[in-house]
Amino acid sequence: MAALSNNTGSDLDANRIPPTPGSATNDSKVANSANVKALVKSSYGDIAERYLEWSTSNPSPRLEYLQYLLERLPAPEQGNPKPRILELGCGAGVPATQHMVSKGFEVTANDLSSTQIQLARKRVTGGPGSVEFIHGDMMELDFPGGTFNGVMAFYSIFHVPRGEQEVLIRRISGWLKAGGYLLITLGATDGSSEGFQCEFLGEDMYYSCYSEKAYGKILAREGFEVSRMEVREEEEHGESVRFLWVLAKKEEIA
Ligand SMILES: C[S@@+](CC[C@H](N)C(=O)[O-])C[C@H]1O[C@@H](n2cnc3c(N)ncnc32)[C@H](O)[C@@H]1O
Repeated sequence: MAALSNNTGSDLDANRIPPTPGSATNDSKVANSANVKALVKSSYGDIAERYLEWSTSNPSPRLEYLQYLLERLPAPEQGNPKPRILELGCGAGVPATQHMVSKGFEVTANDLSSTQIQLARKRVTGGPGSVEFIHGDMMELDFPGGTFNGVMAFYSIFHVPRGEQEVLIRRISGWLKAGGYLLITLGATDGSSEGFQCEFLGEDMYYSCYSEKAYGKILAREGFEVSRMEVREEEEHGESVRFLWVLAKKEEIA
């Protein structure tokens, strides 16, 4: 995630290449989707344990934002069936998947890396909610319309080429019930680079994102009303890294 630091602009049409630390390569070697997925999958397979240790020992606003989502969904104790949440890029399942299950939600948790899913299976245990894991690329998922009350993705969507992110947001809108909520962490850059590769925890990683303004337009076009959209800084290996946190509501049926 270090690659997303230091980029501050928000002009959709800017021609500038955003500054990236270290050995980042803009619009790099990984030219197509299959290569991106292979790279990200292999790297998370290699760093899964390291990422788990690092992410659980570094402060992050994950649970703060998750609370904003959960308090807007139907209460699990009153729901029959229980409210359903889709999690994209669940990683090792902590803290988010485990927290949602402990609060009584029915979670469908997806990840590209089988190593991450294995770690998550060990960590997400007990009820009163439940979890079903789906291994694979989030772009290969398919659900009937109106399946979920909430869809969330922490620090995962920026590993998908941004053209696919647009398609994904459209699909998510379809998978959500009217009045359902989307909670996502995106990259906070000026969006002038289509994608770039750099080192993360010792392995090559791929990142891609639009500007905040462009995400706002995409969300509006796909029928979302933004409830919160803010850039938050996090400390990563002594560096300040910026992420765009978005909570948005799918429009109610008139
Ligand atoms: C930075 S980790 C975040 C994990 C977890 N959400 C968290 O908050 O710690 C990114 C996760 O997204 C997963 N991921 C990346 N690309 C993906 C894709 N195309 N489909 C599904 N998962 C993906 C990775 O395997 C990894 O587990």
